[in-house]
Amino acid sequence: MVKRRLSMILMTASLILAGTGIVLAETDRETWQPPEQILDAAGVRAGMRIGEAGAGTGFLTFHLAKRVGDEGVVFANDISASGLAAIRGKAERDGVSNIVTVMGEIEDPVFPENDLDMVVMVYVLHCLERPVRFMNNLKGYLKSGAPVVIVERNTHHERAHYPAFMTNRQILETIQESGYELVRTETFLPRDTIYIYQIAR
Ligand SMILES: C[S@@+](CC[C@H](N)C(=O)[O-])C[C@H]1O[C@@H](n2cnc3c(N)ncnc32)[C@H](O)[C@@H]1O
Repeated sequence: MVKRRLSMILMTASLILAGTGIVLAETDRETWQPPEQILDAAGVRAGMRIGEAGAGTGFLTFHLAKRVGDEGVVFANDISASGLAAIRGKAERDGVSNIVTVMGEIEDPVFPENDLDMVVMVYVLHCLERPVRFMNNLKGYLKSGAPVVIVERNTHHERAHYPAFMTNRQILETIQESGYELVRTETFLPRDTIYIYQIAR
């Protein structure tokens, strides 16, 4: 009973923080966002050059780096200096040399390359101050046909309590307005949908 109550409190706190841009370090996160399955669904392969927008403290970043390997690179972008410092610290401690941190701007991820194979955004879209402008600027960093992989919380049940998350419809409308077309969605995660987009042709 006590354990269940504690877990409810932790989940509520993490959802509220996620809505404000902070993700609580949750010990069970990999059970409901299994990184390897997300990377499989996204099609992440060795040698890819990937931009991760809003990488936070690097929940997915290190899995991406491992998967792309020595021939690939992960550009971990955020507007939080402390998040990026945490990623650099962990990379240094663990001897990971294929992650490059990138301080972004509100409307522009400022990735240092313009032919990325993929951009990944986990729980970021709903945190962006000006999402349409950001998504529009993002196009300049993508190779032709490169996917943009967006992971967002399913809000049909939770939105009344956590209005910071976007509804499925708001997500679709925002990205469409930014000039992307939906390639497919993946719905195997218990709490989230994975949206895979490309620049509209
Ligand atoms: C809810 S957190 C998710 C962090 C990480 N992706 C994860 O799943 O743990 C949202 C992140 O988006 C970042 N963010 C908000 N606006 C941004 C912007 N304009 N450009 C880049 N990152 C941004 C925040 O600083 C925060 O680290």
